[in-house]
Amino acid sequence: MKRIYNFSAGPGILPQDALDAASEAVIDYNNNGISILEMSHRSQPVIDLMNKTSSLARELLLIPDNFHILWLQGGASTQFSMIPMNLLPDEETADYTDTGLWAAKAIDEAKAFGNINIVSSSKDSMYNLINKDLRQTPKAIYLHITSNNTIYGTQWKRFPKVLNPNGFIISDMSSDIFSRKIDFNSFGLIYAGAQKNMGPAGVTMVIIRDDILGKMKRHIPTMFNYSTHINKSSAYNTPPVSAIFVVYKTLEWLHKIGGVAVIEEKNKIKSDKLYGEIERSSVFTSPIRKEDRSQMNVPFIFIEERDENEFLKFCSNRGLITLKGHRSVGGFRASIYNAMPVEGVDALISAMQDYESMLS
Ligand SMILES: Cc1ncc(COP(=O)(O)O)c(C=O)c1O
Repeated sequence: MKRIYNFSAGPGILPQDALDAASEAVIDYNNNGISILEMSHRSQPVIDLMNKTSSLARELLLIPDNFHILWLQGGASTQFSMIPMNLLPDEETADYTDTGLWAAKAIDEAKAFGNINIVSSSKDSMYNLINKDLRQTPKAIYLHITSNNTIYGTQWKRFPKVLNPNGFIISDMSSDIFSRKIDFNSFGLIYAGAQKNMGPAGVTMVIIRDDILGKMKRHIPTMFNYSTHINKSSAYNTPPVSAIFVVYKTLEWLHKIGGVAVIEEKNKIKSDKLYGEIERSSVFTSPIRKEDRSQMNVPFIFIEERDENEFLKFCSNRGLITLKGHRSVGGFRASIYNAMPVEGVDALISAMQDYESMLS
């Protein structure tokens, strides 16, 4: 069978171990005689699964005890409103960085709840860099960033510092969670849709510091209230058990290969290789400022005007698929999440070089 490498930005590539375990669990979960798809979230095996998933996540990311871990539904997009609904009073200000389409969506949603100060933007340069010159509000409740901008391929390499000594950072880490170490000291909340680096679509991880909750005066609908889910261990309503199972198996795989520090190194090796080729190539170039280039999503474009579909077809004939850039930017984008082996990156580099030879 030809090896297919899936460079999709999301849902993204998952480790084979997790896929094998999922296929078994769909038939019979841990010899319980029924499928994971049929199991009650009140059953002991599922309660155990959810606890184990949180413990493993805590161990891998070194999440301190004063942070809760939640497994919610509604995607990262629901967090765009849930965050200000729970944390930003009407009369207060939150700072937001505008680093791409997802960041802009988070900004638009937050405007319904309090004052929003856009502290920096790179919209004028088509989001091809991260503007780190932040005009922060001295008393901002929080500073919201998107740690990795999936569409444009930019990434905060170092997290900014908040100006307000009582403030904290909130980060959308949908496309780089578990790819890098995190120092939780400056964070109040981190959220991530699972479907890029952590599992399948259907579950969203929220890591939230205990002391930032319980201060809001406005009415928060039950399902949108973080406290509901904390009090009920993410099972106030029926959680997406099968998606959480695949997250567990993906984290188990990550643990087995050495954890976050090891994968961070591997991710650097993979992205260095690919950017190295893009730099060398006479056919392709990167539209992204060097210091802000993402280790997860690598966009590249033709130097000269050429038929993009021809290169996409050339790659897909070799089993290298979903390399088309986001519809808003065009070109190409290789998403090289944790589960993409270095062999996949090597195969893409060979394809780029062979294409170059073919043209000359
Ligand atoms: C950085 C980022 N934030 C948010 C989202 C939206 O996630 P969801 O589809 O889980 O709502 C995406 C999806 O691609 C993303 O890349």
